Amino acid sequence: MCGIVGFIGAEEAAPILLDGLSRLEYRGYDSAGVAVYGEGCGLQVVKAKGRLKVLEELTQNGRALHGAAGVGHTRWATHGEPSDVNSHPQVSADGRFAVVHNGIIENYVEIKEFLQSKGVEFVSQTDTEVVAQLLEYYYKGGLLEAVGKTLERLRGAYALGILCADHPDMLIAVRQDSPLIVGRGEGFQMLASDVTAVIKYTREVSYLDDGEIAILTRDGVEVMDRYHQRVDKPVSHVDWEISAAEKGGYEHFMAKEIMEQPQAVRKTISTRIREGRVVMEGMEFSPAYLRDMDKLYIIACGSSYHVGMVAKYVLEKLLRKPVEVTLASEFRYCDPIVTKNTLALVISQSGETIDTLAAMREAKRLGARVLAIVNVVGSTIAREADGVLYTWAGPEIAVATTKAYSTQLAVVYLLGLSFAQTMGTVSEEEGAALAEALLALPGKLEEVLERRQDVQYFASLCFNHPSIFFIGRNLDYAVGLEGSLKLKEISYIHSEAYAAGELKHGTISLIEPGTLVVALASYSPLFEKLMSNVVEVKSRGARVLGLTTADLAEEMGKTADYVIAVPRTHPLLQPSLDVVPLQLFAYYVALQRGCDIDKPRNLAKSVTVE
Ligand code: M6R
Repeated sequence: MCGIVGFIGAEEAAPILLDGLSRLEYRGYDSAGVAVYGEGCGLQVVKAKGRLKVLEELTQNGRALHGAAGVGHTRWATHGEPSDVNSHPQVSADGRFAVVHNGIIENYVEIKEFLQSKGVEFVSQTDTEVVAQLLEYYYKGGLLEAVGKTLERLRGAYALGILCADHPDMLIAVRQDSPLIVGRGEGFQMLASDVTAVIKYTREVSYLDDGEIAILTRDGVEVMDRYHQRVDKPVSHVDWEISAAEKGGYEHFMAKEIMEQPQAVRKTISTRIREGRVVMEGMEFSPAYLRDMDKLYIIACGSSYHVGMVAKYVLEKLLRKPVEVTLASEFRYCDPIVTKNTLALVISQSGETIDTLAAMREAKRLGARVLAIVNVVGSTIAREADGVLYTWAGPEIAVATTKAYSTQLAVVYLLGLSFAQTMGTVSEEEGAALAEALLALPGKLEEVLERRQDVQYFASLCFNHPSIFFIGRNLDYAVGLEGSLKLKEISYIHSEAYAAGELKHGTISLIEPGTLVVALASYSPLFEKLMSNVVEVKSRGARVLGLTTADLAEEMGKTADYVIAVPRTHPLLQPSLDVVPLQLFAYYVALQRGCDIDKPRNLAKSVTVE
């Protein structure tokens, strides 16, 4: 959700803020704004509905604003429609305070009514405006006192950047349940929702924790906890290159990230397998712990949840332990059955998804041990979990996840194999075969990508279908869920993913002559059963695009209208290869339809509101 950035130093702030916002735009992109304070110019605020380029034009790429301190915002609307007035920064009525916010102030109605009863007039529909107006209400000359009193009244999730015209030599950053980092430079300091916004300027960052307040001046940063006690924040060095977060010649980040999958999966797997055995950093699970483990609870949202769906089949098969996959947004409110012998496996690319974070905290509170699979180093989930396994995918910018999904899956396989080897639920030979197949996966992914023109051709035949069904059984069903999400997310075509055997219990009524059905048939033990379902939909006039392994392609082609073939791998690993043509299919369909692929409507990359 929304991205915030702040800068204080000796240079003109506005161009730096706009550059930072361009790297945060994936977090939300319905409007954007900046506030800059300059000697003789006062507080200058420019904000506008629409993409960042509207703001860039309005400010001549920042050159129209003068001053060395400022805050900026790119918005994903929660309270109030996307409009100029609802854009951030929100400014207090006296024009003294400019506030940028990511999150939701849950008690904003109560605060608004209180302030209105004191005569304060509101101009926007946002929850954020109450913060700016409260600051003004409490301000008697002391900025920190006003901030302290304001925070005492707020409930909800917020990362705030605050600029006060009376104190232009400082910026205030506040974090409560929404991500916020501080970038530390020589003669300048920055705040931002994530490191991508500051890395061009500094690689030294501190991750703020909940309840912390940072005071940024040109020369340094002071951090206090909620009790106003000074906190010594460690400084971490970010070691990835800025080019990793740029398009590198591709038309879209999504295309680049799809193509990066072999290398990302290689990086995630190769250092973790030695002589046929899995070696996972920072992870110790004794045979006794795993023997006594009563359940593995997988908690995630969206595509990460779909990885969990694959994981259920894989881990139950390898470990013979019950695995329950649950949507993070449901977990908190379903009175989950968790014991001290439950292992909660939390999966999140960003490590900041608020539903997943809240569910993880609940699992911990209930006594579970929590292991997280996360891509973003230093993210909140990574820091709060009992153990973390990183997916080494590098920064993922496209809203539609691809390489994060693939590397999450790779970590699931490694985890399953590691546990199975510790528990003795696979033989030496079976374990070695799986390890070998894992090491061969990147090469096979390259083979799949080499055939991307086949998928592009099918997409050119199908891009006008109003509704597309994905069917599969077992692992193929789990992959179909992801294929369907990818398609609807970026192409806006209605789509459903179904366990193939379930169609006839209702949904088959939607199949009519010409309906496109993508049939996944790579899970060889159920190939014939799946083909029966293909015949059923064909009999009702469906057009069928089959996805299967090369050895079964000819057989499938006897019934399906078109077939895409992928190389065969170990049966449990097949989802890693199958998902790629589905990502490509969604990408090429969206391209044909002229959709905004990296920034699909209504979405944002990092979902930090409930
Ligand atoms: O960062 P997370 O993995 O926790 O995000 C979870 C979902 O929001 C995410 O996977 C979403 O479904 C993707 N944009 C789908 O492509």
